[in-house]
Amino acid sequence: MKNKDFLAVELSKVEEHLLKTLKTRSKMVEESLERFIKSGGKRLRPTLTIIGATFGEYKSEVVVPLATSIEIIHMATLIHDDIVDDAETRRGTRTVQSTLGKNTAVYCGDFLFTRAFMLIADMAEIDMMKDLSKAIAFICDSEIDQNEQRYDQTVDVRKYLKRIAGKTAALFSLSIAVGAHKAGCDKKITSKLTNIGKNIGMAFQIVDDILDFTGNEKTVGKPLLSDAKQGIFTLPIIYSLNSSYREETIKAIEMIKDDGGERLMHCVINSGGLERTKGLARKFIKKALKIKDTLPDGYGKEAITEIIERQLDRKF
Ligand code: IPE
Ligand code: IPE
Ligand code: MG
Ligand code: MG
Ligand code: MG
Repeated sequence: MKNKDFLAVELSKVEEHLLKTLKTRSKMVEESLERFIKSGGKRLRPTLTIIGATFGEYKSEVVVPLATSIEIIHMATLIHDDIVDDAETRRGTRTVQSTLGKNTAVYCGDFLFTRAFMLIADMAEIDMMKDLSKAIAFICDSEIDQNEQRYDQTVDVRKYLKRIAGKTAALFSLSIAVGAHKAGCDKKITSKLTNIGKNIGMAFQIVDDILDFTGNEKTVGKPLLSDAKQGIFTLPIIYSLNSSYREETIKAIEMIKDDGGERLMHCVINSGGLERTKGLARKFIKKALKIKDTLPDGYGKEAITEIIERQLDRKF
């Protein structure tokens, strides 16, 4: 029976493994990546991999490199995301792109992708390689859609959901699925876990988009109102545009650089946009919990319940 320290112990092994994978010729890159790893992060995706694997025959020596590769892919996407979003801070510290410049940051991200693939290749898992490649392609496609939809006032909830399914939920569902698959879970359980991962991921990105408006910058550790400033219309704005506040919202977006987002905040709150956004996040959480109820009792079920329930009220 796994006790409550089990997850912490496995995650500390992932931490060690992460630091081992970034040896490279450039001291500058190595130090920067090491700083990034040590700056924290919630390690949610490797946590899902570990929990997924507890539903089958758990082998630490297999799960740890797998969970590490997932976190490395996540970190690579963050480094590239911060270039595109021109973000100065992440995890409460300066981003790679702001310390080393965008050019080197591109290579740092690429370098991490290769490290993740080497870890998977060492496991000789061709199917997993395919699944990971598909997830990364899905992330890229969705980020491209998001970029093309900037300042597009016709963006609707359906397009938004498609975008976040790709840019965030795909990696969440894969994280838990690879864990379950590697531990030899039967197809039914793996499919349930994959579905739970997807719903957690959807709720997670919706909450991230809420925090972009309502978060405390210090606690969140990254710049606020970043999406709106770039013309990325996330759910609070979409709902606000679909309300009687439409004209006011359009004006508020135009004025965001002058008033620091004050008018826009007024719109998303008073139009009920933020509340409706929370409501949708709650729906995805409920869905995840409902599927979770059908899982076999035991450590994994308890652990995943805690993860699901934590997502709605998270502050960072
Ligand atoms: C940030 O992910 C990117 C999104 C999908 C919103 P996390 O919030 O999981 O980032 P870290 O790893 O904890 O810093
Ligand atoms: C998530 O979107 C980015 C990735 C999935 C890589 P955001 O751009 O909102 O992520 P943060 O808020 O900067 O972490
Ligand atoms: Mg982004
Ligand atoms: Mg960003
Ligand atoms: Mg965000």
